[in-house]
Amino acid sequence: MTRELLIFEKGYNTAKNNFIPKMDIKGIDLDEILPKSLQRSEEINLPDIPEFEIVRHYVNLAQKNYGVDSGIYPLGSCTMKYNPRINEITARLPGFLKIHPLQEENEGAIELIYNLGQQLCEICGMKAFTLNPAAGAQGELTGILIIKKYFESKGIKKDKIIVPDSAHGTNPATSAMAGFSIIEIKSDENGELPLDQLEFAMKGGDVAGLMLTNPNTIGVFDRNIDKITEIVHKYGGLCYYDGANLNPIMGIAKPGEMGFDIIHLNLHKTFSTPHGGGGPGAGPVGVKKDLIKYLPCPQVIKNEGGLVCVEDDGSSIGRMRSFWGNFGVLVRAYTYILALGKNGIRRAAQNAVLNANYIRTQIKHKYSIPYDRINMHEFLVDVHLPNGVNSEDVAKGLLDRGIHAPTIYFPLIIHEAMLIEPTETENKRELDKFIKALLDIYEEAENNPDHLRNGPYNTLIGRLDATLAARKPHLRD
Ligand SMILES: Cc1ncc(COP(=O)(O)O)c(C=O)c1O
Repeated sequence: MTRELLIFEKGYNTAKNNFIPKMDIKGIDLDEILPKSLQRSEEINLPDIPEFEIVRHYVNLAQKNYGVDSGIYPLGSCTMKYNPRINEITARLPGFLKIHPLQEENEGAIELIYNLGQQLCEICGMKAFTLNPAAGAQGELTGILIIKKYFESKGIKKDKIIVPDSAHGTNPATSAMAGFSIIEIKSDENGELPLDQLEFAMKGGDVAGLMLTNPNTIGVFDRNIDKITEIVHKYGGLCYYDGANLNPIMGIAKPGEMGFDIIHLNLHKTFSTPHGGGGPGAGPVGVKKDLIKYLPCPQVIKNEGGLVCVEDDGSSIGRMRSFWGNFGVLVRAYTYILALGKNGIRRAAQNAVLNANYIRTQIKHKYSIPYDRINMHEFLVDVHLPNGVNSEDVAKGLLDRGIHAPTIYFPLIIHEAMLIEPTETENKRELDKFIKALLDIYEEAENNPDHLRNGPYNTLIGRLDATLAARKPHLRD
C-alpha cells in the first residue's frame, strides 16, 4: 500500500514560503513589540498549496475515518451514540461560541451551567454538581479527592478503596492516584458483588469507600445495590458511583436514591456530546448535601438575588480544570436533555437496553454469553468459534464487512471478551445487519477459518501485530 502524503509533503516551494508577506508596517520595530527570544529564527515550514487542495486533502482523510456518522459503532463501554445535529446548532450560536470565560457579561452561560447542574441533580438524585472536570477519569479523580478530603477534615484515617473486578479500569487507577490502596473484590457468577466479601472488607475499619461501576463493564446491574450501600455506610464508608454507564438507567433509577454519595457522569457517553478523539469531554461530578463544600469552585448557586458564583472558602478540593470546563460540550448536553425531555430520556435508556438484549438473544445460539441474563446497555461475549477463531478474528471479520468492531479483550475477566453496546440510536434494520454479519462470520469460522484469521482484506491496512502497533505505532503509514 502506498502511504498517504502528509499535507507538508504536498506543498510546493515550502523552503521559500514566499507566500507569507514580510512584516513591513512602517514605524513598527518588531524587536520592540516582541522580544528577540520569541521571534522565529528559521523559515516557517508551511506548505504552499491552494485552498481547494487543502480542502480535498482533509475531506479525503475524513472519508477514511469511521465514526458515529458512518454507521453502527457498537464499542462496548464507550457508548458511541449518534450525536444529534441540533446539539451542534446550539453550540454554534454566537452567544455561546464567541464567549470568553473572562468577560463580565456572561449571565446566559452561567444560567446554562446552573440549569444543566440542576437537570443532572434531578436525573441522578444528587444535591449539587460541578461541571468542571474534563473527562470521566478526571471526574473520578474529583470524586475520590472529595472522599479523601472528607475524611481528612474529620481527622479520620482511612486509606483503602474497594473496587470490584468488574469496574472500569480507570476506577482502581484513580483511587491509586489519589493515594489509596485498592481492595479488589472478584464478582460472583452473576457478575455481581458478593455481599459477604464486601462486609468482610469493610469490617477492617480502614476503608474510605466503595467505587462501583453500575451497570458494570459486563452490562450487569447489581440487584443488591441497596444492600451494598447499606453495608458501606454501616462501617462509615462513602459510596462512589461510576455513572459513566448511566445510559440504560437514566430517567428510570437514581443513584442518589440507591444510597450513593458521589457520582460522575460522562457527558460524551450518555448525553450525546462528541467523544472527540480523547477530548474535549466533560465528566461532571454530583454529590449529596454534606459533600457540597468540597466541590471545585466557583460553584453557581441560586439565592434570593438570582444566580451567584461562590468562591472557595477553604473547604474545596480546588479546581480540576481552568474556568468552567469544556463549555461547548455542556451546551450540547443541555440541548440533548431539553430536546428529549423527561420521557425522551427514559425512552432512550429503555431502547439502549432493548437493542443490546435483542442482539444478545439473536446470536446466543452461536456465540457463548458468559452472563446470559437480561443485560443493560451492553453484554459480554466469550468468543470461541469453531476452529479456534477468536475475538480478534471476529473483529477483523466485521471490519471487512464495513462494520466497526465492538470492544475486544475488555473487560479482562473474560479472556476472549467481546463487549457489544449498540446504543439506542440504532434501529432494527441496522441491528439486523450487525447480527447477520456476526452469524456470517460464525459460518465462515466453520467453513473457511484461515480466511478469517488472515483478514482484514478490505481496510486500508491488513492485520497488524497488535502488540507492536500499540507499543511502537507507525502513525504516518
Ligand atoms: C465506566 C467508565 N468509567 C470511566 C470511564 C472513563 O471516562 P473517560 O474516558 O472520559 O476518562 C469510562 C470511559 O469510557 C467508562 O466507560
